[in-house]
Amino acid sequence: MEIISTLRTTGATRTYTDDPVPDAAVHQLLDDARFAPSGGNRQPWKVAVVKDVTIRRRMAELMQPVWDTYMARSALGITPFNSVDDQEPADVAHSPNALLDGIESVPVVLAVAADLRRIALMDGLFDRPALTGGASIYPFCWSILLSARERGLGGVMTTFLSRVEPAAAPDLGLPEHHALAATIFLGVPVHQVTKLRRAPVESFTTLDRFDGPTFTP
Ligand SMILES: Cc1cc2nc3c(=O)[nH]c(=O)nc-3n(C[C@H](O)[C@H](O)[C@H](O)COP(=O)(O)O)c2cc1C
Repeated sequence: MEIISTLRTTGATRTYTDDPVPDAAVHQLLDDARFAPSGGNRQPWKVAVVKDVTIRRRMAELMQPVWDTYMARSALGITPFNSVDDQEPADVAHSPNALLDGIESVPVVLAVAADLRRIALMDGLFDRPALTGGASIYPFCWSILLSARERGLGGVMTTFLSRVEPAAAPDLGLPEHHALAATIFLGVPVHQVTKLRRAPVESFTTLDRFDGPTFTP
């Protein structure tokens, strides 16, 4: 598949067939993704291929309440957990999540961590949450998903476990000074989503300054 087509059609896939994904295929995805860029080429990633169903179930149990409150916050019309105007919902109901309910049978579950000693936090001085550090780990995660798409697999990058990192750390053996960046689910897609809903370039691009006129060719 051509790179442009892959970029434009790699949607989040959360339902998978029963087809197993061999370890060799998982290794291949990681072998592709290791070419991702990172600040200073420090490659801060660490990956746990989580097969143990007890650990998987524990991960799902930790993620479910995060999902519940995510949905309750969404219902308030805000971006859940945003650092500017997040709100604590009055009521949090159980929100079924098929991915978590069936975590034992997801073909591949990857926990991706980042070694904070190998990440230069260029915007770490400000009175707001730092953002740039993620740029040394999420291109790697995204490359896993792009490689998966190219190879007939599909998946989704999730961060709900990161919300409960301290609770998940012992189960995953998260090393000291590491952050839990993402949990990636992968498998053979039941449906291949090819039409992605994304805002057009004109909606987010301006000339010279962010308050400049809309950039048009
Ligand atoms: C940084 C990041 C965090 C995400 N966290 C979650 C998550 O916790 N749970 C989940 O189901 N999907 C998660 N997603 C997947 C997004 O919901 C998905 O990429 C987005 O809705 C676009 O979906 P589409 O490609 O199918 O259009 C995350 C994606 C990114 C890039």
